[in-house]
Amino acid sequence: MSKQEFKGSVVLNPVPVVLITSKNKEGKENVFTVAWTGTICTKPPMLSISIRPERLSYEYIKETLEFTVNLPSSHQVRETDFCGVRSGKDTDKIKEMGFTMKKGTHIDVPYIKECPINIECKVKSIIPLGTHDLFLAEVVGSHINSDLLDEKGKIHFEWANLVNYCHGEYFPMSKKPIGQFGFSVAKNSELIEKYKHIKTFNEYKSDDNKTILPKKKKKKKY
Ligand SMILES: Cc1cc2nc3c(=O)[nH]c(=O)nc-3n(C[C@H](O)[C@H](O)[C@H](O)COP(=O)(O)O)c2cc1C
Repeated sequence: MSKQEFKGSVVLNPVPVVLITSKNKEGKENVFTVAWTGTICTKPPMLSISIRPERLSYEYIKETLEFTVNLPSSHQVRETDFCGVRSGKDTDKIKEMGFTMKKGTHIDVPYIKECPINIECKVKSIIPLGTHDLFLAEVVGSHINSDLLDEKGKIHFEWANLVNYCHGEYFPMSKKPIGQFGFSVAKNSELIEKYKHIKTFNEYKSDDNKTILPKKKKKKKY
């Protein structure tokens, strides 16, 4: 397979898409959509979001240095898009989308009850990058729908039906894993058995019949 040189944009895909809630000093609340977000540190737990200075949310978050990341489910993809194409400057997005706002536990910013996962954050630093400013924030608390926890207390994010954003389009997350951390070197027989059908790329190439990669469609002959 040949490669094409591609310059001028970040082709990192897919990424999560999230709803950020904020509240200014006068008590006004807002929500907007963010795709440039990521986990950046384990201890202390930290994440980042990149915001263009012209957003209303930029003003609110810079003022209070607090925000909440709300992870939407695929059933909230219309709301997610709407909050990313309308500004709180002229639309009350929280009201229009019918979101139920719950009081934050660790910060003075409410979270969206309907979103299955909510992450409360305190901004630690802001780095201007160019079009966007990078907000580095510490996670001070999280809320997770109890139906995402199994009897052992393990969180099943895959049950939340989360959304991936990929080159301008929204995709649902698959519920079926194709591997898990460390499975490629597992010694545990249960883990070996669970993923024995997942091969290396070179094995797939040499084993056409049992591949999980999409098969090439045969051209119809007329
Ligand atoms: C899928 C999607 C992802 C987005 N990601 C970002 C982002 O990472 N950073 C940003 O500043 N704006 C992003 N936007 C644009 C803002 O959400 C949009 O300008 C919004 O209207 C700003 O709202 P506000 O003025 O109420 O804060 C995104 C929009 C969409 C639809």
